[in-house]
Amino acid sequence: MATEENPQIVWHQESITRTMRDAKQGHRSGVVWFTGLSGSGKSTVANAVDQLLFAHGIRTFLLDGDNVRHSLCATPALLAPIHGDEYAKRFGLGFGPQDREENIRRVGASTELLVSAGLIVLTAFVSPYRRDRDRVRERINKLGCEDSFLEIFVNTPLEICEQRDPKGLYQQARAGKIPNFTGISDPYEPPVAPELELKGGSLTPTELAEQTIQLLLHRNWIKS
Ligand code: ADX
Repeated sequence: MATEENPQIVWHQESITRTMRDAKQGHRSGVVWFTGLSGSGKSTVANAVDQLLFAHGIRTFLLDGDNVRHSLCATPALLAPIHGDEYAKRFGLGFGPQDREENIRRVGASTELLVSAGLIVLTAFVSPYRRDRDRVRERINKLGCEDSFLEIFVNTPLEICEQRDPKGLYQQARAGKIPNFTGISDPYEPPVAPELELKGGSLTPTELAEQTIQLLLHRNWIKS
């Protein structure tokens, strides 16, 4: 079916649907979207959840911000030596508002593919803008099953993230060496109604992972 917005591109309906894949594998597919400041613990918790799900035979895939920015959403500096400066400027992504918007759009599009393949996709991106996260939610929920996007706010106070500073980035941002740094010189818009809020400053990653698993059980995404 061609659409008014895209008259020359025709969508082909797949013969094996996501619902068929979900039924065969015995668990739901969907997106578990971790959002929070740099250093809040998103990647650690997402990895811990991934390990628990993997051990239970659940088909998962983890998309992590720092890793994705080496490939699908590579920075201009990574692209320039191979593709040249003009290309790198056009397609490379930094941390300005539009770059972050495009980062989350590309990641969202990737999660659509992976959910269509029947996976539970775990994502760990700062994703500071509410509108960008909401757009991913909207598109995922149109993929044949409402309630396919769980937003998890890793709510770790800025002071704690800054104390942890695992990559030394807060220190550089405070010194004015990194522009647009989330929480310091760029905004973070917390979710209004996340499916789960994790107190990243007071509980251990194992406890936070367990709370996430409880959510998946409660929503019948997985069985105990
Ligand atoms: S997002 O805002 O576009 O969602 P993403 O999750 O991909 O960000 O990448 C965030 C990671 O990039 C952080 O964990 C941090 O290590 C690094 N980083 C580098 N510059 C910045 C910046 N200006 N703001 C936030 N994180 C940054």
